Amino acid sequence: MKVLIVYCHPSKTSFTYRVYESFLKGLQDAGHEIAVSDLYEMDFKTDLSEEEYLRETYYRAELPVAEDVRMEQEKIQASDAIVFIYPVFWTEAPAKLVGWFDRVWTTGFAYSPNPTMKTLDKALCIACAGKSLESLEEVGEIRAMETVMLGDRIRDRAKEKEMVIFDKITHWDEDLREKTEPGHLQKAYELGCKF
Ligand SMILES: Cc1cc2nc3c(=O)[nH]c(=O)nc-3n(C[C@H](O)[C@H](O)[C@H](O)COP(=O)(O)O)c2cc1C
Repeated sequence: MKVLIVYCHPSKTSFTYRVYESFLKGLQDAGHEIAVSDLYEMDFKTDLSEEEYLRETYYRAELPVAEDVRMEQEKIQASDAIVFIYPVFWTEAPAKLVGWFDRVWTTGFAYSPNPTMKTLDKALCIACAGKSLESLEEVGEIRAMETVMLGDRIRDRAKEKEMVIFDKITHWDEDLREKTEPGHLQKAYELGCKF
């Protein structure tokens, strides 16, 4: 399967980066073909220009999109599946990934009129969180993140969609983090192998 990974974290010393490496290794061991958009590494521009805003808000799909956006859309069209790997920042993806959707999910590509984006076989969101799953569940944050990422952004753009959250990754409690990390990294590798 051709898999596009959209990876978004500002630091390569992060746990999220190790999750990315483990997942990637799993995909490679399973023989998948892989493309990566590392949004910070690419310095991908993620704030809408006025011109882009006007194109979107008036559904002017006949107008061209920026070259960097077109290249992202081409990568999607050449893939069977998409995987987002990112840390949870204030119950959302980092602003850089949110901005990627603002710019790449354009009118005429991802939504009306006549969207040309292919229906992907799979979409997977791997989110790394500081809080425990129980705590995220208690306040409804998991539901909120699933609603936004899977319900709205992926919607029917993939046949299968899933969100996996790796929890309790916090420097507030280093002992807990050290105990939790190996299991998560093993699971990330297995997710790649089974993809
Ligand atoms: C600006 C910022 C906001 C954060 N917001 C949340 C949050 O809303 N919920 C949560 O569980 N963790 C939150 N965290 C913690 C990170 O999600 C967590 O530490 C990270 O995903 C895993 O560590 P890493 O940065 O080493 O990859 C936040 C961290 C930062 C820096």
